[in-house]
Amino acid sequence: MSSSTPVSSAASSALPTAAAKDFPADFVWGVATSAFQIEGAHDADGKGPSIWDTFCRQPGVIADASNGDVACEHYQRWEEDLDLIKSLGVDAYRFSVSWPRVQPTGQGDWNEAGLAFYEKLVDGMLARGLKPYLTLNHWDLPQALQDIGGWGNRVTTERFVEYAVGIAKRLGGKVASIATHNEPWVVAQLGHESGVFAPGIKDRRIAAQVSHHLLLSHGLAITAMRALKLKASLGIVLNMAPMYPATDSDADRTAARLEDGKLRRWYMDPLFEGRYPQDVLDYLGHDAPYVEAGDMAKIQVPIDFVGINYYSRGMISANGPVDNKTSGLELTDMGWEVYPQGLTDLLVSIKRDYPGAKRLYVTENGGAFPDPVGADGRVHDADRTRYLDTHIAAVGDALAQGVPMGGYMVWSLLDNFEWASGYAKRFGIVHVDYATQRRTPKDSALAYKDFVVQQVSQRRTARQG
Ligand code: FCB
Repeated sequence: MSSSTPVSSAASSALPTAAAKDFPADFVWGVATSAFQIEGAHDADGKGPSIWDTFCRQPGVIADASNGDVACEHYQRWEEDLDLIKSLGVDAYRFSVSWPRVQPTGQGDWNEAGLAFYEKLVDGMLARGLKPYLTLNHWDLPQALQDIGGWGNRVTTERFVEYAVGIAKRLGGKVASIATHNEPWVVAQLGHESGVFAPGIKDRRIAAQVSHHLLLSHGLAITAMRALKLKASLGIVLNMAPMYPATDSDADRTAARLEDGKLRRWYMDPLFEGRYPQDVLDYLGHDAPYVEAGDMAKIQVPIDFVGINYYSRGMISANGPVDNKTSGLELTDMGWEVYPQGLTDLLVSIKRDYPGAKRLYVTENGGAFPDPVGADGRVHDADRTRYLDTHIAAVGDALAQGVPMGGYMVWSLLDNFEWASGYAKRFGIVHVDYATQRRTPKDSALAYKDFVVQQVSQRRTARQG
């Protein structure tokens, strides 16, 4: 088939709602994973322990009492996995570097075997025509740094800069993009306030200080990497959900506004306006972070993109979040509402509130559904396929409203270690049989592939026309 063959009509697409929308020719389609969730090889070739290795060993914290020791054996199977990504026809692969694999104690000596692993992974992507989208911190802090206070200790910001510069020097000439942190809200809130994620601390004051140190380390690392004059674009990845008031009452609206402040404005205001939102500072009171003079300017440095991870919405009343089960919306296996309109609303709100955010990506989006492998050896995950279809369409709607979207990445390539839920929740568009490590693309992977291939061919047609 010649590359200029007209594409089939939208109606026949595997993702019909998404196919009816317009995406620009340079729009990046990808899939995403993170190191701890797929690599395994937790102590191979000189890797040091991370806080997640330690956390998983505490009884009762992971739903199925599992850990990341073996995971998807991606450390051994990376070539097969890259072939799989290539076979999906996507442009990009978002992955993360395990800090303790390349710098076992989080400072000083580098582990050459770890660096070599990521170098061959990146080279493998380039050889397959895939753009590498690298994340530096997808939560697996070296345990040795936690032993001196982790993200609660300002010293960790300096360690992070050293790590970022080391990786940027080694890989920054090859990767398309480097994100400093993945979802600092999760690290601060779930790791240090509710304590359900590593390192399992339950202290609101520490959590607020952690969020400040994450933002500060982001700004410092961006400035240090910028000085290297890389071709990679530099940014950060944040998790967000639009917060809707349950009713029009003032009390509900105020509550929803505060939740939006805690999740979205707490991170976006410092990055783009150089200050924390006053309503959240008031809410934190004595627990507000200690901020040194000059810190806010160090955080508010220009970035090339903001990655947004979107899964669901929040519905907030003055009495707290409204129970998801009462909405009547479809729920994923995580109990999260399926609400694609929320993604459009969120992206439009960012364009409205932060004109300085010049490029946005959806760096994660997807759903956990329990679909098993059928008798025919396939996984008929119509629920996940529908989820992707409607959410990609929601990105199209945001584009139509002028939101500067650069790309979309599915979470996740593979079923993997879903943090405190262990292996019980499956987000992959590719099924993993953990007993055999066999990978089986689900129907959603095939549908995404068909859709992306169609987009790419439309792109070619447009260029030739
Ligand atoms: C996000 C994480 C990612 C994955 C998805 C389901 O919060 O960044 O690692 O666990 O949720």
